[in-house]
Order: sequence, then structure tokens, then C-alpha cells
Amino acid sequence: ASPLRLGIAGLGTVGTGTVKIIQKHAELLGLRAGRPITITAVSARDRMKNRDVDLSSYAWEDDARALALREDVDIFVELIGGEEGIAREAVLAALKSGKDVVTANKALLAIHGQELAGLAETNGRVLRFEAAVAGGIPVIKAMTESMAGNEIRRVMGVMNGTCNYILTRMESAGLPYETVFEEARQLGYLEADPTLDVGGIDASHKLAILAAIAFGTRPSFDAVEIEGIERVSIDDIRRAADMGYRIKLLGVAQMTGRGLEQRMSPCLVPADSPLGQLQGGTNMVVIEGDSVGQIVLRGAGAGEGPTASAVISDVVEIARGVRIPSFGQPAARLSVPQPARTAVP
Ligand code: HSE
Repeated sequence: ASPLRLGIAGLGTVGTGTVKIIQKHAELLGLRAGRPITITAVSARDRMKNRDVDLSSYAWEDDARALALREDVDIFVELIGGEEGIAREAVLAALKSGKDVVTANKALLAIHGQELAGLAETNGRVLRFEAAVAGGIPVIKAMTESMAGNEIRRVMGVMNGTCNYILTRMESAGLPYETVFEEARQLGYLEADPTLDVGGIDASHKLAILAAIAFGTRPSFDAVEIEGIERVSIDDIRRAADMGYRIKLLGVAQMTGRGLEQRMSPCLVPADSPLGQLQGGTNMVVIEGDSVGQIVLRGAGAGEGPTASAVISDVVEIARGVRIPSFGQPAARLSVPQPARTAVP
């Protein structure tokens, strides 16, 4: 069979991780996909940066939009990030020029998801984003594929590993927020703009995407009620521990009689519950379906290997010819949700 040719835009942690998996598992991926998977071209901001991966056999583009338009690219893999600017323009260009798109860009999907999914569908293309939510955990496939026979009642979980690391470490080491925040920065856990993590925004992007799939609504990040972890003190954590609880940045999306509730906030969870036991940079997502009941997924929500693993899963799926609507149903049918505002507990 003819090779499936990738163009990879963005060579940060996830981009280089994706290249490494394709190089390391070339033969296995070819067998699983039913055709060879190759990389024809890559692009990034800085060509000279040392990335600890051999890029010499790929064409180089300085501009992601040019990469998206190359005739020798079948799937455009967008790993640049950011809801506006070059990432969005390149994804639009790729879809309009008849390419399938795989992206890890949660902000882009949480804000422009319906438009992009709609464009993919009208052009007969596929847009998939397993890596955008909870890193290596296959939550998008669980919901759009494995749980297709369910009406989803609720989706919730811990979706930002950095916040979970900070909260866990504050408790275990008895350190104040500011100290652990600085530690997380040193360890390179924080996003370039740390507010995305500690302000609950990154986790809310992910929640908005899951809510759209769960309830057949347009992703609506602006309707998520968000409270970050910046004001969680060591005293709060100690008081919670005394009562047998832990504080987690928990996202909950559910359809209520008053509309769609999407909430991201520090919550008390029993210390001995699966959520309470979640340590360090791990993520956990709990999905409730009317037929299957509750499904709990737990794993690495960030990092090179886990996130690249999710990117590859989309690539292989597309190579197999599987064509799943981005949000599990036609984008044009996604309804505009009525947000149910609640008091944060
Ligand atoms: N900053 C994110 C996290 C990375 O800590 O979970 C993955 O989206």
C-alpha cells in the first residue's frame, strides 16, 4: 500500500516525541496501520535548535502554513499550540487543501472546535485530537468510539498534571504554594504562561472538549466556571487532611435541568478515593454512561512519550481509513448549550 505521509508542525516536546516514535516503531506502525507511515516534512520556529532527534531525511519548512499546503503531505500534524495565529491558520489551510489533521491543541479546539470540525466534514476530511485531552489517556476514543452506545450523563476528573503535582507536593512536603510553584517551574512542568495551568484554564479547555463530545454541544470554553489553585493555602490542605479529604482541581461537566454545567475548581475529595489517591503529574477522567455505568481512566496527562503516544493513535486510526467525526457526531448538529451557572461549592 502507498505510504501515508505526515507533515509535522511544531518540534517541541510533543513534536520531537512523535518523530521519535515514528522512527523507533516504523515497522510495527506499518503493520498496524496497514501501510507505511512516513514523515515527509517538518517545521518549527527555530531550525538550529538541538532537538536530540535526527531530522535530516525530512524536508524543512519555516512556515507551518507552507507545510500544510505541501502536495507530499497527507496528514498535517499540528503540535504548535495556541488558539489563534499560526496554529489556527495552518490547520484551516490544511483542511481546506484536502488534508486530514491531527492536533494536540486543546485551546484551539475548546474555542474553534465546531468551526474546524465542520470544515473538516464539508471537505470530507478527518480532524482528530486525542492528545489534546489528558495526554496519553485515550479519553477521546473512549467517548467517541467505545462509548458510542451510551448517553453520557457526566464527565469529570483531574485534567492538569501540574496542578495535581503542586497540590500533592504541598501536602506531602508541607510546603506553601509559592515554594512548590517555584519548584514546578524549575522542573519545567509549567506552561510558558503558568496561568494556563494554575488558573485552571488548560484544564478547562480539556473539560470543554469532553463536554462537547459527551452532550453533543458546541465546545464552549467561555461557559466554563473556572477557579484555579492560586488561592489554595497550606492551611486549607491541612484542614482538609484532618477531615480525611484532599484538595484536587476537579472538572465536572453534566447536563442539568437548567442547562449544561461546566465547572473547574478546587474540590474536596475523600483522601482514600481513587481521585484522592491520584499523585503527582497524573490525570484521571471519570465518564458515566447510561448503559455501561462508570468508566475510570488514569494515566500520564502530559510529557513527551504519553502525549506523542496519543498523537500516533490518531495517525494510525486515519491510516486505517477509520473516519470518526471529531466530536462523535456531525459538527453541524452540535447544539449551542445553555450554560447552567452554579455557585462554586
Ligand atoms: N500543562 C499541562 C498539564 C500539560 O500540566 O497537565 C498537558 O496539557
